[in-house]
Amino acid sequence: MRTDYCASLSEKDVEKEVILCGWSNSYRDHGGVIFIDLRDKTGIVQLVCDPAISPKAHKKATRVRDEYVLIAKGKVRLRGEGLENPKLKTGKIEVVVEDLTIENESEPLPFLIGDTTVNEEIRLKYRYLDLRTKEAFDTFKLRSKVAIAARNFLDRNGFLEVETPILTKSTPEGARDYLVPSRLYPGEFYALPQSPQLFKQLLMVAGFDRYFQIAKCFRDEDLRADRQPEFTQIDVEMSFCTQDEVMEIAEGLIKEIFEASGIEVKTPFPRISYKEAMEKYGSDKPDLRYGLELVDVIDIFEDTELKVFREIAQYKKLNRIKALKVPNGANELSRKDIDQLTDFVAKFGAKGLAWVKVKEDGELQGPIVKFLSPTEKKELLERTQAKKDDLIFFGAGSKKVVLDYMGRLRQEVAKKLGLVDPNLYKFVWVVDFPMFEIEEGEVKIKALHHPFTMPKNVDTEEIEEMTSEAYDIVLNGVELGGGSIRIHKLPIQQKIFEILGISQEEAQEKFGFLLDALKYGAPPHGGFALGFDRLVMLLTKRDNIRDVIAFPKTQKAQCLLTQAPSPVDSEQLKELHLRIREPKKR
Ligand code: AMO
Ligand code: AMP
Repeated sequence: MRTDYCASLSEKDVEKEVILCGWSNSYRDHGGVIFIDLRDKTGIVQLVCDPAISPKAHKKATRVRDEYVLIAKGKVRLRGEGLENPKLKTGKIEVVVEDLTIENESEPLPFLIGDTTVNEEIRLKYRYLDLRTKEAFDTFKLRSKVAIAARNFLDRNGFLEVETPILTKSTPEGARDYLVPSRLYPGEFYALPQSPQLFKQLLMVAGFDRYFQIAKCFRDEDLRADRQPEFTQIDVEMSFCTQDEVMEIAEGLIKEIFEASGIEVKTPFPRISYKEAMEKYGSDKPDLRYGLELVDVIDIFEDTELKVFREIAQYKKLNRIKALKVPNGANELSRKDIDQLTDFVAKFGAKGLAWVKVKEDGELQGPIVKFLSPTEKKELLERTQAKKDDLIFFGAGSKKVVLDYMGRLRQEVAKKLGLVDPNLYKFVWVVDFPMFEIEEGEVKIKALHHPFTMPKNVDTEEIEEMTSEAYDIVLNGVELGGGSIRIHKLPIQQKIFEILGISQEEAQEKFGFLLDALKYGAPPHGGFALGFDRLVMLLTKRDNIRDVIAFPKTQKAQCLLTQAPSPVDSEQLKELHLRIREPKKR
């Protein structure tokens, strides 16, 4: 229908006869002459409907309102001096309309296109209007580019794109499954895949050597800003590979994706062990755009007069005392700020947040200073390398709690002091994960990654010490992806199940198909998956994953557009052999 897109026109097109299609972004009646901003996916161009040139087109233009669908035929001309609009890409020209068709009308909109102050529920209900902005279009253009760049890279490197089932058996990725009742088998269910994990391993046993898929995954878990119940992974698996080789492929893939988005990325990415990440940053997904590393000071307080610290310092294996030095913090953080930060860490289990300010000549000031000996003060300054006007926070208590809240404090302080440079992309591999997660006071041992991950030191006596060939790629404090070398030998797999307390019968029932496959010549293999939505979220500097998903669900897992989930006919339920039990009133 069209000859050109709106924003593709420029001075070069003056005198050209064009046909344009799009939406009326706005209209103005200037005493006789009507101006319409016509919008399509490329942007806006100004239409001029002058009764002296085409009385018919002008008459139609008087009917045009916001978001009417128009087809305009006309001629491009220069706007002339003083009439240019420097804010518009096409601001030097306009199109004089000779013929105008109103292809469709629009009711008054529930909100103005592009108005981001509108309640998100309304925007999601009318998501197609919410997506009508150039910003949204550009986001999805980038998302498409990223997918194509990923496909190109993986294709070039010998990976085969294979689809795996959506109606399947549950795989143990750790979240709750979405279930689909079977009509043919009363009382039986399919599960939607939490990831294609086991299928991709089976493709390795099939000898496909290198697989990938841009795969939909489903997890019924508590939603957060960077989580959706239905999301997409760039999922990869390869055979006869070392951990380093898999990581190199992941780095190449990430590099190509970022470069397709115009961002230079330097590889290889730095690596740090899980242990170091936890001790230095209090997180297994550290944000390395700023320093503020946590410093171990527990040994300094062994004999201190500060009773809480002394008691905690007696158990170095179970406890931690961590210092967080804030350069120039004595000037930048007020008493009120410190109180706020104390309340903040309290939410994560901190029993207090001791602090000291560094004065002239290494003198310290703060509520705990009177308990500190000269040696303790001297060692603190040395250990933290603190200088005049720095402020040091202390977190003391059990290891897990202290690392967690001090890691959060680190992020909070960085935010408060504006230390986070939004233009930096800091990648880091976190490696040497423990094989198992052992909750204090809990009997149950869980696999930290998943139970098919290859352990490094499978014969160790202390299962706390068992590490795995697993790796996570972290970008700016967000877990972008993860993977591992898998177990390809049955006896090792059985041993891991045993430690996890999964009986042979249970293992056979749940993943018998995988265990069987391991008996028929499974090659060594490993892989990874990148969170595709998270990747696009970081590339477009959004802080909500919903912005980069065309039709997302709310925090409460609803689709406001279609009203899913929704009740179904009793007939449908009957066919599925289901009866609804009224939920208990609370
Ligand atoms: P994992 O569970 O770590 O690994 O998932 C890989 C990546 O997927 C993204 N992701 C999510 N994104 C949005 N919403 C969610 N609910 C969500 N959950 C996960 C994250 C995460 O890093 N099969 C393994 C991979 C492997 O071992 O090869 C797996 O699924 O960015
Ligand atoms: P108190 O003696 O309880 O008044 O504590 C003295 C200082 O130590 C206060 O600033 C408290 O916030 C801080 N504090 C107390 N317990 C802890 C802890 N477990 N970790 C860090 N600081 C603490």
